[in-house]
Amino acid sequence: MSSSLAPGHPQVVVCKWSAELVRSMLDITPHVFVVLDEFDTAYMNPDWELLSRAERVYRISDFDSNEEISAVAADLILRRASIDHIVSFTEFSQFGAGYLEVLLGLTKDPMRHVAFRDKRLMKDRVRLAGVPTANWITLADPSREDDVAAVRETLSFPIVVKPVAGSGAIGTVKVETPDDLLPTLRGIEPDPHLKSDQLTAEEFIPGREYHVDALWSGDTPLYLIVSAYYRPRMSVLDTEPGADADATPPDGSYVVNAEDAPALYSRVTDLHRKVNRALGITGGATHLEVFERPDGELVFSEIATRMAGAWIGAVISECLGYEIHEAIARGVVTGKIPEVRPSRPYLGGLHLRPKGPGRITAIPDEEEMLAVDGVLRAQRLRSAGDSVDHAHPSEWCAFVVLGADTREEYEALARRVCDELRIEVEPAG
Ligand SMILES: Nc1ncnc2c1ncn2[C@@H]1O[C@H](COP(=O)(O)OP(=O)(O)OP(=O)(O)O)[C@@H](O)[C@H]1O
Ligand SMILES: [Mg+2]
Repeated sequence: MSSSLAPGHPQVVVCKWSAELVRSMLDITPHVFVVLDEFDTAYMNPDWELLSRAERVYRISDFDSNEEISAVAADLILRRASIDHIVSFTEFSQFGAGYLEVLLGLTKDPMRHVAFRDKRLMKDRVRLAGVPTANWITLADPSREDDVAAVRETLSFPIVVKPVAGSGAIGTVKVETPDDLLPTLRGIEPDPHLKSDQLTAEEFIPGREYHVDALWSGDTPLYLIVSAYYRPRMSVLDTEPGADADATPPDGSYVVNAEDAPALYSRVTDLHRKVNRALGITGGATHLEVFERPDGELVFSEIATRMAGAWIGAVISECLGYEIHEAIARGVVTGKIPEVRPSRPYLGGLHLRPKGPGRITAIPDEEEMLAVDGVLRAQRLRSAGDSVDHAHPSEWCAFVVLGADTREEYEALARRVCDELRIEVEPAG
């Protein structure tokens, strides 16, 4: 089979459905291959007219299927495609996209993409490169007494136990003392989205938690934005969210401006470059999480080689002044992005959710959220009648992106939004 692909144009595989990303890629090159999974085709309503402009669309059931990814790789090779970039922007496609990179020869390290997802291998590589991380130990089989005993004997409590390749802080639990370990492990309900039930155990790092969202061209960040979570992700459900107008918003993050915190930016950028070198990250979007201990030391938490989920992508778009997907498409393929012009000086985002679990009786619609002065974007993910269990921090209800002229104005706006845009529930029947 000879290739019909015109030379001189980059060839790109996009994993999973995003209209913005596919459109941005097609503006740069006609040689776009799109891989959609069953979730995309069943629930995400892909734009088939837009997709008809792509070189080819592969429909698979699941990115975790070796058989399906291998078939995509074989077909690309038989078409004499010479893929330059694979872009995967969701957690669900990360293993499959990484495997496809290995099969197509885009990396020489067959475990590279595994280290982007498996929290143990990731920390092992990062720590070997001299970046501080929590002490940790694998808990490969929590039903084995020797595995559990090793955790008790090796780590200083409190610890955090979590799935090795989880997301959204689902199934992530803090264990205060060695005696609490067995009962806690027995109570863990496996997340139905996860295929592996291996766990990792880490010493608990106190302090605050930042997320760092960047786009890389080699060692150069095309953008690098540090944001502070109001509360560490794991503890957003620990206390009742702030109906009180003076309370800190329970769930969200705000952008720390580089000019307000130059030293933090320089330390974070330095840490990020070391992490990139340790893991072989040479391009594309990243979402890194880092703790700042009470003594000021930065401790690597984890990294994802994709754009962030929840409210964060929308905040980054406001920081750029255009859609993050356009930046990713241009950055990956050309190594450059259009000029960055933040829409407002102080930006951030919140997840709005009810005070407790129950059935939603009232939830503002997007128009109501956008009517609040300072709300720049709004996304509603649930409706009246839906149930919220508060089983983990990532049961998304509604996101808002906020912008203000000063830090003080921003904080007042965030508190006002929590107070005014309430989601009410009644006890679930
Ligand atoms: N060693 C630790 N010390 C303190 N807190 C921790 C530790 N590990 C995890 N956490 C808390 O649990 C949350 C979830 O853990 P982690 O980020 O490792 O997993 P995740 O489920 O992949 O996260 P994400 O929400 O980013 O998808 C963290 O954001 C942090 O608040
Ligand atoms: Mg995380």
